[in-house]
Amino acid sequence: AGSALWGGRFASGPADALAALSKSTHFDWALAPYDIRGSQAHARVLHGAGLLSDDELAGMQKALDELAADVRSGAFVPEPGDEDVHTALERGLIERAGPDLGGKLRAGRSRNDQVATQFRMWLRDGTRRVADGVLDVVDALVAQAQAHPGAAMPGRTHLQHAQPVLLGHQLAAHAHALLRDVDRLRDWDRRSAYSPYGSGALAGSSLGLDPEAVAAELGFTGSSANSIDGTASRDFAAEAAFVLAMIGVDLSRLSEEVILWATAEFGYVTLDDAFSTGSSIMPQKKNPDVAELARGKSGRLVGNLTGLLTTLKGLPLAYNRDLQEDKEPLFDSVAQLELLLPAVAGMVATLTFHTDRLAELAPAGFTLATDIAEWLVRQGVPFRVAHEAAGGCVRAAEARDVGLEDLTDAELAAVHPALDPSVREVLTVEGSIASRNARGGTAGDRVAEQLADLRTEAAAA
Ligand code: ARG
Repeated sequence: AGSALWGGRFASGPADALAALSKSTHFDWALAPYDIRGSQAHARVLHGAGLLSDDELAGMQKALDELAADVRSGAFVPEPGDEDVHTALERGLIERAGPDLGGKLRAGRSRNDQVATQFRMWLRDGTRRVADGVLDVVDALVAQAQAHPGAAMPGRTHLQHAQPVLLGHQLAAHAHALLRDVDRLRDWDRRSAYSPYGSGALAGSSLGLDPEAVAAELGFTGSSANSIDGTASRDFAAEAAFVLAMIGVDLSRLSEEVILWATAEFGYVTLDDAFSTGSSIMPQKKNPDVAELARGKSGRLVGNLTGLLTTLKGLPLAYNRDLQEDKEPLFDSVAQLELLLPAVAGMVATLTFHTDRLAELAPAGFTLATDIAEWLVRQGVPFRVAHEAAGGCVRAAEARDVGLEDLTDAELAAVHPALDPSVREVLTVEGSIASRNARGGTAGDRVAEQLADLRTEAAAA
């Protein structure tokens, strides 16, 4: 059975087909540095429990330090006979410390508590890297927003022109969603920062080891309160997969807008050459591949979440080998976002906005109709009536193929007697935007405050 950790009761080694199926070193090698840190902490608690002498502890630490250096340099790698990262590293330890000393480290721990701990450690680091990348996208959005104060655009619902808004308001909406995702990652970390080390296979350790000491050494808030839960639970992984998928979905929604905005029909933005691609046949093409890959990868991230939840759904407690399927989806979600986030941040940072085009379209499609209705309400007209009247203005303007601001005084008065020429004060994009000045609204001052707050929140996140 090569370096297997469980050969004793077996007369023969595993069939080749089983060995091939069982093996996980091709992906769980990513846990190697965490496995070694766990071993270093475990050696200290074995020493604390009187199971390693001072000399043995020193010898063990020296061997583990060498092993860590060899893993880092690539001098030590898994062999074909190693089932998983834990098996490979035990082989490496024994090669360096000898079988007598090296063979002592396995006391009081199991791959079940090791892998649950190391996976949490890996994910805590991975989600921090992702959060940094998300914050770079937030910075790029806020910087673009602040670079275009006062730029108006058509706000949309149902993709139809709805009401004019500031470009900064629209960009900030994406930034808020992404900042909540970062907050979700921080919150996830608070809940996930408990170390299963010391849970053993499932029932805990009989050797007087101190799980709290290991937890503290590995940067956790504390150790698992329940050894069965410590080894069997993977809600931490599923929850992380959700937040990573949510980030993908939020990037996808932003990207879908960029894709639309970059079409000739919208003409809102031009993508920078460095963040767009050409066509192998159509020389004129400039394609929004970054945004499309973001949209596409979001499906993959959702798939990783769905796959993991499905794996977990029927599992009895405690550890089952099915749980070996937990790592690849999360490794993949983190890796995909680490590729994607810098590209999206760069794409956003280098967008050229065509503010004249945005301004020209802002009032198109009668986006100021709501402003007429609300102006009438301020004159004491019930909203139900005001809504009808504003609709009448749209009908009149549409009949003549003009904008609301082009209706004559007589036409306005004919729609409703309260519509005197002073209604024109709200028939501009600027007037409409400035009037929406309650908290959260699109008025310039409100948006400027919002962007300043976003900057503060992003810096603190
Ligand atoms: N490689 C396994 C995993 O990733 C850990 C090994 C547990 N194996 C076992 N027979 N209990 O989950």
